[in-house]
Amino acid sequence: MLTYKEQLNPDRLPTHIAIIMDGNGRWAKERGYERIFGHQNGVTSVREVTEAAAEIGLKFLTLYAFSTENWGRPQEEVGALMELLVDTIEKETPTLNKNNVRLLAIGDIKRLPGNAGEKLLGCIRQTAGNTGLSLVLALSYSARWEITDAIRQISADLCASKITEKDINDDLVSSYLTTKGIPDPDLLIRTSGEQRISNFLLWQIAYTELYFTETHWPDFRKENFYEAIYNFQQRERRFGK
Ligand code: FPP
Repeated sequence: MLTYKEQLNPDRLPTHIAIIMDGNGRWAKERGYERIFGHQNGVTSVREVTEAAAEIGLKFLTLYAFSTENWGRPQEEVGALMELLVDTIEKETPTLNKNNVRLLAIGDIKRLPGNAGEKLLGCIRQTAGNTGLSLVLALSYSARWEITDAIRQISADLCASKITEKDINDDLVSSYLTTKGIPDPDLLIRTSGEQRISNFLLWQIAYTELYFTETHWPDFRKENFYEAIYNFQQRERRFGK
């Protein structure tokens, strides 16, 4: 039997895939472990999916790693998750460079605790020259925060006469978002059975295809990723036309 990867149509590959990595906590609890064990195992899936994306020449992969709402989780989990995120990014930076992967971040990075933001920006700088896959981490991100922040900046620029009311259109709004310069996702994947968007990329997913799978994030492997792309390729996209 052919694998999903072998069945992919190379002429109809997506440019940008975004993923809501859900189910780490449930995966761990089902095995009798603390939730952080699920996040730790989720790192393996991040590595797998990044490799899979690079293998097929995807240009952008966005991962929802930490939402604005996640700040409300118990302090112990938030601390452990932040440490895991920043340690992983630092540890993986040489591998990202070896594979020509550029790291980007979207979200309210200023809110990251201690020197986590600094470390992250350091890794972003170190990979800035890479021209293959762009790996976009959504950290302290929520779409409503992003849109509110854009409105604040647009208002300020209007008041300062840097722009006029007539300049305000789709493209201008996009250019004030934290995703500036990143094309809208073609496909959004959410793992672990929940069928909702949870404040992720609300503006950018206007015409994105949605794919939901029961697989918990720590179990998500390359073939699961290729299966989602295969499913995407069977769909007809009309962009409202
Ligand atoms: C959702 O599962 C997952 C997260 C909030 C964090 C995702 C983080 C990682 C996979 C860590 C590594 C990431 C990178 C980019 C290095 P959940 O805790 O909401 O699970 P539940 O819905 O079962 O409770």
